[in-house]
Amino acid sequence: MSKVQDIACSYQSNESYKGEKLIYPAANRNKEPILQVLKRFISSDTDNIEEESPLFLEIASGSGQHLAHFAPWFPGVKFQPTEVDENLFGSISYYANHCPTKNILQPMLVDICNKFSCYGFNENSIDYMYNANMIHISPYECTVGLFENAGTYLKNDALMITYGPYSKDGVITPQSNIDFDASLRARDPSWGLRDISALIKLGEENSMSLIDTIEMPSNNKILIWKKN
Ligand SMILES: C[S@@+](CC[C@H](N)C(=O)[O-])C[C@H]1O[C@@H](n2cnc3c(N)ncnc32)[C@H](O)[C@@H]1O
Repeated sequence: MSKVQDIACSYQSNESYKGEKLIYPAANRNKEPILQVLKRFISSDTDNIEEESPLFLEIASGSGQHLAHFAPWFPGVKFQPTEVDENLFGSISYYANHCPTKNILQPMLVDICNKFSCYGFNENSIDYMYNANMIHISPYECTVGLFENAGTYLKNDALMITYGPYSKDGVITPQSNIDFDASLRARDPSWGLRDISALIKLGEENSMSLIDTIEMPSNNKILIWKKN
């Protein structure tokens, strides 16, 4: 079974989708352009999952569609989906179970505001972190948690990849992103597009440097962060 759901619904859902695959239309549109960027930054020495395989930790997996699309292209990478909303675990598991390369682990409960040590991660142990569309659709504390955990739990020189719309030097462009930001803030005053300058400062406080900015369709960006 599958259920099409607006991406913006996921954070408020009280429904549980047991074993049912959710389809966010936005994720269907953006997963391929994001994959093309990941292919430039993700690598693995092997084509199979082994004990030492690189760990790719996704924060806020939502439906689970992104990892389902990425994982078959990186069969030597272990993909760990996580979510704060356990109602989404059924959909994430559905995609993990149907992944032909079997390199997506079962979803873990992770609230990004908590230290990763709460979930059994060791410092300097994670090879990649990936987060799409959470920074602007959650309170700023979640963004702070994302950078604090990245700075502590990523290996040295490891990458964090973030995807979404951002403002730059205090300016949001184009009008559709201004309208989107206003609609988010009307829904919850603690949400809204974050400024890249503020994120760079937050990164500096947490040993994370912005090393690349990639323009994406629909006025989104991918930001590539490297742990110093
Ligand atoms: C708009 S959805 C994005 C889902 C998916 N990454 C995508 O791009 O399709 C935002 C997600 O952020 C998650 N989220 C909100 N607060 C969070 C927190 N404190 N820790 C982890 N995830 C959180 C929500 O549960 C929701 O699934």
